[in-house]
Parts: sequence; C-alpha cells; structure tokens
Amino acid sequence: MTCNWQDVIVTQGAQQALDLLARVVVQPGDVVAVEEPGYPPARALFAAQGARIAHVPVDGEGIVVRKLPRNTRLVYVTPSHQFPLGMPMSLERRIELLEWAAKRGAVIVEDDYDGEFRFEGRPVESLKSLDRAGLVAYVGTFSKTMFPDLRIGYVVPPAALAGPLWSAKQICDWHSCLLTQSALGAFMLDGAYAKHLRRMHKAYAERRATLLRHLATGLAPWFEALPATAGIHLVAHLTDTLDEARVVAAAREVSVGLYGIRGFYADKSTEQGVLLGYGGTNVDAIERGMTRLAALMPTL
Ligand SMILES: Cc1ncc(COP(=O)(O)O)c(C=O)c1O
Repeated sequence: MTCNWQDVIVTQGAQQALDLLARVVVQPGDVVAVEEPGYPPARALFAAQGARIAHVPVDGEGIVVRKLPRNTRLVYVTPSHQFPLGMPMSLERRIELLEWAAKRGAVIVEDDYDGEFRFEGRPVESLKSLDRAGLVAYVGTFSKTMFPDLRIGYVVPPAALAGPLWSAKQICDWHSCLLTQSALGAFMLDGAYAKHLRRMHKAYAERRATLLRHLATGLAPWFEALPATAGIHLVAHLTDTLDEARVVAAAREVSVGLYGIRGFYADKSTEQGVLLGYGGTNVDAIERGMTRLAALMPTL
C-alpha cells in the first residue's frame, strides 16, 4: 500500500482508530458486520456506539460476502490474518467484498494488526490498495511489532473520511503522545525498526515451526492446526470430543497458557479449539510446554 504521511492519522492503538471510525461513520441502530468468529474488543466497541452487530461467518477464504446484511453500514475485517482463525482472505474474496461494498456504499475497515510477520506465500494485496471507490479505512498498529503498551496505531482513511476523523481525534484527545511517536520515528529512521522486524520475524518463524511440529506429532491425536500464514498466534481445533474449557484449565495446571476459541464466537455452540500465542515466549519454553501438554492429553 502506498500513501503520503498526510494520509496517516496516528491513534492510541488500533482500538482508537476503530473508535474514531465508529464515531464518524456509524449512527445508533446502523448495522455493523463483524467476522464470526472475530475480535471481541472490536465487536464490543461497535456495540457500545449503538450499532446493531451482524455476525457474519468466515470460511477458508475469509468473510462470506453473500451473508452480509444488505443494509450494512460498516464491515470490519482482518484480511491478512483472520482473527482468530488465521487464514488470509483470498484475492477473489477481497474483490467480491469491495464490489459488494461499492454497490451499497458501505465502509470497509481493514484491520491489519499483525500482517508484518508473514511466513508462507506471497502477500495478497491489501483491500486498501485494491480500493478504487474510496471505501476502505486501513488500520495498523505497533502493538504486535513493538509492544501493546506503546499505544501507537494509525488509520489511513478514504479521502472523504479524513476530515471528520481528524476532527474526531482532536475532540477526543487532541493528539497521541508526541514523545513516544518521536522515539518510534527515530527508531524507524535509523533503520533499527527494520532490523528489529527481521530479527523478530526469524524468532517467530522458529517458534511457529516448533509449535506446528508438536501439533503434527505428539499432539496430533487431539489437535489439528489451522492453516495460518502470518501473525504471532495460531489456532488448533480439538479433534476429539474433549471439552475446550477442560483442556485449557488442565493445561494451566501444568503452566501451559492456552486460550479457548469459543469466546471469539458470538454463537457459543460452535467449534472447539485453542489459540496458541507465541509472541511472548521462546523455543525452549514451547518445547517444554508442548511436551507437558502431550503427556497431559491422554489423562483427560
Ligand atoms: C484483531 C486485532 N486488532 C488489533 C489489535 C491491536 O489492538 P491495539 O493496537 O489497540 O493494541 C489486536 C491485538 O491483539 C488484534 O488481535
């Protein structure tokens, strides 16, 4: 995606970018479509702004466009690395979504929260770079590439929304912290950020490979990893009749931190699985943890 610095509105993380977008685009009662399963903080934010939330299923190619309600005002998607399941949105689906939104004048919010870490395949063009109708607001964050406490994110809006968004940002908090922005800017300008990304990419690739190896060997009778090409977490479905909450609780007893995926569904009756994050760990800890998990599973 190419843009000028004037096109970028710096926010307090991606969450404030979503908040500002909701404030300027969504009226109480408007329909906002989110992915099912999806990112709960986004869902909660749009609901808190008075939107009616439509939970639209995803399949292996991303959000199922034909299931979007006709009167949708805003569609929130995670095309680089669907949250939480992990698959990228296919190019065909991106085009279908853009065409659908153009017909209805809906705004698309593209949350690219961790697409910097891609491990397989060629990156698919962002929705923003394919957008000819001025419908896509591209949201990014430094929460994954740096750390969440930095609270630096940004939105590159369609031209028509730029003015209202600048005003909304000013009304909310004038501007984001200049001290941390200058520090991050200096880190980027002297090449240290690019070096940091390369170093972390290598570290995350090793952690991911270690996790996938355990899931494909010792843990294979119980888990099935979903294909994910990017990011710093992956999801594995539970292949047995095991209860997700029980697996998560038992894993915690042996100091293995897993998240159940049910909380990411609005419809609680769906798939069972676990999310495995590898952002805040290391290869040795993953080796130990997965070995402990493999020993635990036959006892459940
Ligand atoms: C889907 C998604 N979007 C955005 C973010 C980052 O949000 P923020 O930049 O507000 O920390 C996350 C972090 O977990 C996420 O999972």
